[in-house]
Amino acid sequence: MEKRQQLYRGKAKTVYATDDPALVIMHFRDDTSAFDGTKVAQLPQKGETNNKINAFIMGKLGEAGIATHFVRVLNERDTLVRALKMIPVECVVRNICAGSMAKRYGIAEGTPLAEPIFEFFYKSDALHDPLVNDDHIRILGWASADEIGQMKALTHKVNAVLQPLFSRAGIDLVDYKLEFGHALDDPQGALLLGDEFTPDGCRLWDHATQEKLDKDRFRRDLGDVIGRYREVARRIGAPL
Ligand code: TMP
Ligand code: ASP
Repeated sequence: MEKRQQLYRGKAKTVYATDDPALVIMHFRDDTSAFDGTKVAQLPQKGETNNKINAFIMGKLGEAGIATHFVRVLNERDTLVRALKMIPVECVVRNICAGSMAKRYGIAEGTPLAEPIFEFFYKSDALHDPLVNDDHIRILGWASADEIGQMKALTHKVNAVLQPLFSRAGIDLVDYKLEFGHALDDPQGALLLGDEFTPDGCRLWDHATQEKLDKDRFRRDLGDVIGRYREVARRIGAPL
């Protein structure tokens, strides 16, 4: 698979074209960013660590019947994926109250939720990813009612697969963010899970100690960010 021109450079990954227009290469860099790109750093080994964790999780989701863009890992930092036209919203499911939800409603971080809570955010760093509802998404034309339904169902289904997977490793899956899109070569087809699933886009707490094992270590200057990402990989059985 030949790596061709750069198509898109995000905050932590770069996307390259290949010789097949339906496939692109996702390259995981060491760059780490938080707070809409205002806090950035290079963390050694982050790219390869996240590439491997993502591959493992995407594999588990695929085995569980959740359609994703993942095709195969090419090398330490590159993964081949289907090219998607992304829907510009972020889908969040929360099992435990934390982060922006704790702040927004004045609820203590760590408060358990009786059921998983689903939230949509509009993907825009300039606007700080504002919370939006189904009507905003449908009426402003970001996705149809059918796509909204698919995104909710798929994001909850991911919880049903990953919450027990992390729980078996003694880790609480507190919350996570997913993004979806349509394959460029199947624009009318069902939505596919895109982007990544890594400790950059979720909260993972050690069940026994409540220690943070995710990007909050970077956001809150807790140190040893990638050491803890690698501990997550070891505990869930993702080969590094
Ligand atoms: P939040 O508490 O900041 O709303 O984030 C909820 C979860 O979603 C948390 O695990 C981080 C993840 N997330 C991202 O990875 N990127 C984003 O832009 C947003 C809004 C959330
Ligand atoms: N959208 C945020 C960012 O700029 C997410 C975060 O704070 O992690 O990376």
